[in-house]
Amino acid sequence: MENNVVLTMRGIDKIFPGVQALNKVDFTLKKGEVHALMGENGAGKSTLIKVLTGVYQKEGGEIHIEGISHPLTNRSPEEAQKNGISTVYQEINLCPNISVAENIFVARQPRTRIGAVNWKKMNKDAEKALKKVGLDINVTKPLGEYSVAIQQMVAIARAIDVQCKVLILDEPTSSLDDSEVKKLFDVMNNLKASGVAIIFVTHFLEQVYEVCDAITVLRNGEFVGEYRIAELPRVQLVAKMLGHDVDDLSSLRKTSKEKNNIQNKDSILKATQLGKAGSIKPFDIEIKRGEVIGLTGLLGSGRSELARLLFCADKPEQGDIVFKAENLNAHAPIDSIKKGMAFLPEDRKEEGIIADLSVRENLMIALQARTGMFKLLPMSKQNELTEKFIKMLKIKTASPETLIKQLSGGNQQKVILGRWLITNPEFLILDEPTRGIDVGTKTEIQKLIVNLAEEGMTIMFISSEIEEMLRTVNRLCVLCDRQKIGELKNDNLSQHDVMTAIAGGV
Ligand SMILES: Nc1ncnc2c1ncn2[C@@H]1O[C@H](COP(=O)(O)OP(=O)(O)OP(=O)(O)O)[C@@H](O)[C@H]1O
Ligand SMILES: [Mg+2]
Repeated sequence: MENNVVLTMRGIDKIFPGVQALNKVDFTLKKGEVHALMGENGAGKSTLIKVLTGVYQKEGGEIHIEGISHPLTNRSPEEAQKNGISTVYQEINLCPNISVAENIFVARQPRTRIGAVNWKKMNKDAEKALKKVGLDINVTKPLGEYSVAIQQMVAIARAIDVQCKVLILDEPTSSLDDSEVKKLFDVMNNLKASGVAIIFVTHFLEQVYEVCDAITVLRNGEFVGEYRIAELPRVQLVAKMLGHDVDDLSSLRKTSKEKNNIQNKDSILKATQLGKAGSIKPFDIEIKRGEVIGLTGLLGSGRSELARLLFCADKPEQGDIVFKAENLNAHAPIDSIKKGMAFLPEDRKEEGIIADLSVRENLMIALQARTGMFKLLPMSKQNELTEKFIKMLKIKTASPETLIKQLSGGNQQKVILGRWLITNPEFLILDEPTRGIDVGTKTEIQKLIVNLAEEGMTIMFISSEIEEMLRTVNRLCVLCDRQKIGELKNDNLSQHDVMTAIAGGV
């Protein structure tokens, strides 16, 4: 065996009821390399990581760390840490109720001589740890008061603050914007230079090509291959992940542009001087029926806030909304839903999945709320819709009755998207709908958005990925510093045009 190999996993098997999540998977990690683990939603990436860290017990196979075989039957996450493995899991597993500093030092608080927690030192060390990822926040505040992006950065800061040989990052960048990703990459490159090996999971291909040295591809729980980054061009990587070639996307852009002539259509929604102090400055917006309107701006620019006011997820303090030629007069989201709106929120964990309900129940919630809680949807109807959306969104689940928490992250996201599509709304707001979704399905969802709009649905689309916005929207509304600063018609707009506008130059 080469002596620069830190970790080998051979023939790993993992079975969940009804699913062979991993089938004889191999994985080799070398010292000082960043190794991407790639595959579609449900391919087995997170499971392989959890087998390695001892969260799951494997059914078969061997794991060697620095050439030493581990008696893996009773391995626990603590033991993994002792063996020099530090992990950022896909679902942020921090505690929102305790302070940022406590989260960073959980189970390893600095102590005073008499054994009490040394708060002063802990807070100072937490600040130092956060500085390494470029974050300067009040570490004594409860973590839950911060945005998902900041929570993600805190999880990363905690993981890299622990001395480790292997650092595992499972979709650490899903909520981050470009500048934060850049900071993370700087940190990764420094760790790499000091000999740490990094396993990196992401659905952003450009990030893989920017920071990784090697790629291992999984498909359907099976090992497809291991490649050096230089020998596997993007298209080939995607083909390996999907098991077939990818569609050409240029046609999608064309359809969306062809129907750019949306101006003479009726207006479905018109907001005038809508605003809320501390959330977003008063803005006007008019949206046409059948239009796809994008909201763009940096993280914290007010994209989600604007959408939340329209839907009444947050109550506006001023201004009014006319929806379908009537005053909307909503006091809570349920009023907006009843009038034909739907809203897929950004924060899947907080506002999305109900972990202990099945896929079917999670899919039905919004429709059930709209028809009224006392008029239970007939089971035959529920089953029919569930089947239809599982197929349409390619949700990978053992059965419709499987608990949603047993699905992979990306498949949970698809269920939440399905929940709102099922209500067949007239006005649908999608806040980062493709976050955590693999490349293949992502294109399917973009196509779906364009098709639904062609059939008359009006869609508000928020995404940090400018490229996917340009493929789908008719118009872009640009935000900066919690203020709407302009609009752009999507007439051959380039990424560069949008970036300039975001920077304040509409
Ligand atoms: N706790 C569990 N119980 C039952 N099945 C599970 C459990 N965890 C994962 N699975 C199943 O194992 C398979 C692999 O899931 P995994 O989470 O490893 O996928 P992934 O590659 O990380 O996908 P994603 O990109 O969506 O995060 C899926 O079919 C999933 O439903
Ligand atoms: Mg995963």
